[in-house]
Amino acid sequence: MKLAVLASGRGSNFEAILRNAQAGRLPGVEISVLLSDKPNARALAIAREAGIGTVVIERKNHESNQAFNEAIAEELQRREIELIALAGYMRIVREPLLSAFEGRIINIHPALLPAFPGLHAQKQALDYGVRFSGCTVHFVDAGMDTGPIILQAVVPVEYGDDEDSLSARILNEEHRIYSEALALIASGRVQLDDRKVRILI
Ligand code: GRF
Repeated sequence: MKLAVLASGRGSNFEAILRNAQAGRLPGVEISVLLSDKPNARALAIAREAGIGTVVIERKNHESNQAFNEAIAEELQRREIELIALAGYMRIVREPLLSAFEGRIINIHPALLPAFPGLHAQKQALDYGVRFSGCTVHFVDAGMDTGPIILQAVVPVEYGDDEDSLSARILNEEHRIYSEALALIASGRVQLDDRKVRILI
């Protein structure tokens, strides 16, 4: 399964996927390319160092969101990408990219969806006062973090947590379940049944 990872920043989720792949823990997953909309993203440096192909496609070089998403779709189709994993990609995936890869784009979100979609999910959870939060791997649809849920992990909110401490605890679980989801998809064990995801065991 030829995988493209899309990242805008730090790239710790990409790095976790990369390390798992390098350690042979992601059979069937070939990380083909790291694509970023930010030329200075740390994720790009991680990819280059690992000898993974990189592409930068910036929104500002395209006249519309449509043209920008079309450029990404063309690039990924040219590379025969089969699955797209968003990993800290700070843009909404729009047409025609969405349709070109329908059901083949996944994302990781740092909250237990459908609670706290959008930006600053960890702060939203703290401000709300939940006792547990976590992370979610889901398919991407046209909404904001609304697609079918593949895997989730629960993380306790501890007394005295701030955004940084909660984010770090959640991030550990992100790094674990994103690779787990990729392994499940690569082995053909993830079935989409309308909006429900069935994991075949
Ligand atoms: C993660 O918390 C992820 O859930 C969210 O953005 C953050 C990206 O972190 N979508 P990184 O770039 O993978 O380190």
